[in-house]
Amino acid sequence: MSGADAAPLLAIDAVTKKFGGVVALNAVSFQLEANRVVGLIGPNGSGKTTLLNVINGVVDADGGEVRLGDMKIGGKRPSDLAANGLSRTFQTTRVFQTLTTMQNLFVPLLHRQALERSKATERANELLAFVGLERHAGHTASELSGGQQRLLEFARALVTHPRLILMDEPFAGVHPEIKKVLIRCIRETVQKEGASFLIVSHEVPDLVNMSDFMVCLVEGRVAASGLPTAVVHDEKVIEGYLGRN
Ligand SMILES: Nc1ncnc2c1ncn2[C@@H]1O[C@H](COP(=O)(O)OP(=O)(O)O)[C@@H](O)[C@H]1O
Ligand SMILES: [Mg+2]
Repeated sequence: MSGADAAPLLAIDAVTKKFGGVVALNAVSFQLEANRVVGLIGPNGSGKTTLLNVINGVVDADGGEVRLGDMKIGGKRPSDLAANGLSRTFQTTRVFQTLTTMQNLFVPLLHRQALERSKATERANELLAFVGLERHAGHTASELSGGQQRLLEFARALVTHPRLILMDEPFAGVHPEIKKVLIRCIRETVQKEGASFLIVSHEVPDLVNMSDFMVCLVEGRVAASGLPTAVVHDEKVIEGYLGRN
C-alpha cells in the first residue's frame, strides 16, 4: 500500500488491549495514508473507542505498536501527539459550556498555539465561517444545539492544522442538516488541507459514501478491512455487526 520508503501516516500493528478479563482489542492491524478518510465500524463494545484512545495516547496498549509517521505513540502524551499533527473529537462532545463559541477557539489558539490576539481572532473567525457558526460567535456554548456543539468541537480540532483527525461517532444524535455540514467540512479538510480522518460511526451508508477505506471490528478483532463496499458485504461483517438485531 505505501511506497517502499515512505512511512504511512498512521500504522497500527498487532495492537492488543485488555481491561481485566475483557480483551477490548485483539491484534488489530491496519494502516492509514495521507489524504484519506477511513471509516471504523463495529457493534457496541467492539473496541472502537478503545482504539482511538490508544492512538491518542490516553490508553496504553498491552501489545503491538502504533506509529504516527516515524514516531512511536507508546508512552507519548496526548499533548505531544497534538504537536505532531494528531487531533480528536469525542463520542460525548467536549466543549467548554460556559465559554462563548469564540472563546472555545481562543483557548487552544492563544494557549496551545500561542498566537497573538489579532491572529487568533482571524483564525477563529475563519474556522467559525468554515463550519457555519459565525452568527453564534458570541453565544455561550451551552446555548448551542447538540449538533452545533459538535461543529464547534470539530472547528476546535482543526485549530492546530492537524494531519490526522480522529472522530468518535460525530453524527450520533445530530440533525440531518448539521450532519450534511459536518460531512462537507470533513471532505473540504481532506481536499484543501490534505488531512486524513479516522471516523467511528454507526451511520454506515454515510460512512461508506465518504470513506476511502473501511475497517470493521467485532469483539476487538478486525473482522474485515478494505474498500467500504466490499467490507459491508463481507460475511463476517454481516454476521458480526450489520445483520444483528
Ligand atoms: N476503561 C475501561 N475499563 C474497563 N473496561 C473498558 C474500559 N474501556 C472500555 N472497556 C471495555 O472494552 C470493550 C470495548 O469498549 P469500547 O472501546 O468502548 O467499544 P466501542 O467504542 O466499540 O463501543 C467493552 O467491553 C468495554 O466495556
Ligand atoms: Mg465507543
